Amino acid sequence: MRKYTLPGLLLLFIMLPLQAQQGMARLQKQETATQLIVDNKPFLVLGGELGNSSASSIENIQRIFPKLQRMGLNTVLVPAYWDLLEPIEGTYDFTLIDKAIYQARENQLKVIFLWFGAWKNSMSCYAPLWFKENYKKYPRVHTQTGKPLEIASSFSENVYQADSRAFSQLMKRIAAIDKEEGTVVMVQIENEIGMLEDARDYSADANKRFNAPVPETLTDYLQKNKQTLHPQMLEKWKTQGYLTKGNWQEVFGADIYTDEIFMAWSYAQYVERMAQVARSIHNVPLYVNAAMNSRGRKPGQYPSAGPLAHLIDVWHCGAPGVDLLAPDLYDNGFTDWVAQYKLHNNPLFIPEIRLADNDGVRAFYVFGEHDAIGFCPFSIEDAPDDPQSPLIQSYAKLNELMPLLTRYQGKGVMNGLLFDEKNKERILHQDDLKITCRHYFTLPWDSRATNGSVWPEGGGILLKLNKNEYLIAGSGIVIEFEHRNEKKVILAQCLGEDGFTLNGENKDQQKAEKWSGLRTGIGSVDEVSINGDGSFRYIRRLNGDQDHQGRHVRISSGQFSILHVKLYEYN
Ligand code: DGJ
Repeated sequence: MRKYTLPGLLLLFIMLPLQAQQGMARLQKQETATQLIVDNKPFLVLGGELGNSSASSIENIQRIFPKLQRMGLNTVLVPAYWDLLEPIEGTYDFTLIDKAIYQARENQLKVIFLWFGAWKNSMSCYAPLWFKENYKKYPRVHTQTGKPLEIASSFSENVYQADSRAFSQLMKRIAAIDKEEGTVVMVQIENEIGMLEDARDYSADANKRFNAPVPETLTDYLQKNKQTLHPQMLEKWKTQGYLTKGNWQEVFGADIYTDEIFMAWSYAQYVERMAQVARSIHNVPLYVNAAMNSRGRKPGQYPSAGPLAHLIDVWHCGAPGVDLLAPDLYDNGFTDWVAQYKLHNNPLFIPEIRLADNDGVRAFYVFGEHDAIGFCPFSIEDAPDDPQSPLIQSYAKLNELMPLLTRYQGKGVMNGLLFDEKNKERILHQDDLKITCRHYFTLPWDSRATNGSVWPEGGGILLKLNKNEYLIAGSGIVIEFEHRNEKKVILAQCLGEDGFTLNGENKDQQKAEKWSGLRTGIGSVDEVSINGDGSFRYIRRLNGDQDHQGRHVRISSGQFSILHVKLYEYN
């Protein structure tokens, strides 16, 4: 048997917790990006969230996880149901939690648990029956008319104690079986918290607090961060003259938007306590998700007071122990929503997005444009596992790209591209280059561009490796490079795929101006795959018809590729 000296033993005791810590996921800054570090390497969550009831039996978990691995996911978001975890008060059943962790390991997946505790989409439907029935001990919110809702009150200490006790049992279980392996990489606290029907709770307890002074912590925060407040928050505070003392209506005005701010503070403070509990047991990154207030809905018409974009300041102040606030995206306005959640103090993570064919290119967009931590279509088990499906192609390429993308995150050298029939073009300027990026269907020779077909979204990542050297990846895009002084001579529309004018007419042709200065040309376009260390593996050279005889770089719609492009200058 190996013998240890006393100092050796001491060192061992110091090292053991450190090693455990190394196995655990954590967040780390790289320039302007925040990265999720998993197994000691920066990681992109190529994920999917299970449908709400899909992790409620071990058979389901066993059946679904291998499919997710076949699809190329690296992470699965799994509900942890309070009602099944603590069916009898004080008696805990971890069967489903254990199964999810072990089944994930067998299928090379990481897990993000979603605590379906006191609130799920506003409601308290996942609270165990013993909790629901004891409404005197665990009170509900009340509407203005006095109607009780099946929404536990965030003002009740009893609700918090019951919810956080069960949550702490979950965290202890994860710590017990996963501290070394680090299969569980994040935990979501509650799900789409928020008030419905009315913008705030009108129970006696809530009313009392509503008439009490706004906590100084919040008014101090607003003062200190005045320059960077969300415009809606700033405007709201301005209406009352930026008051720092007074009750909620005095400081913010008397309307439903103030009611929502008041509730947001209450939910954020509650969640902060939950976050502290989690941290003290098992310190993995924590986040809270929000349903969006799309379609012009007003407070009370959507889960109000969750970590919505316009309430992000209240949440940052009230729940500083939460690492990120995350949008669930089911409606129009994708690019606007994601931009509102990528902030200097909030990394972008998309825990839910509607399962759709355009998810593949949207994933590229958020990793390229916003240094996203992850992307996760909802009800992922319903997605096809056909290798040609856009999401599977997309995840396969993103998985290859991960060492490169994580190397360049936060360094200002990546752009995400996303196009549809309305937003066809984006022009970027870098070094001496004007880079025109467009939807693939802006090329005239794909019949779907003009025959009335709906344009599938096209998108990708443009990564500058060096001056005049780029990596272009994605699907359904075409990119032209010009020297910034170059005058466009011929519109691309005039030319067929072979580069000849389509017919004898040249009505689209612009008058050539007297030439001066450098031009930029395409030196080479190689389709490549990426090795684990970020180096390239040559697949084939794309020239001739495939780069329009040196005029552009393109990836057709429906196909995902990675292209290594070298440019040169001439005169
Ligand atoms: C968002 C919620 O967070 C999910 O749990 C689910 O209810 C979807 N909406 C819609 O099905």
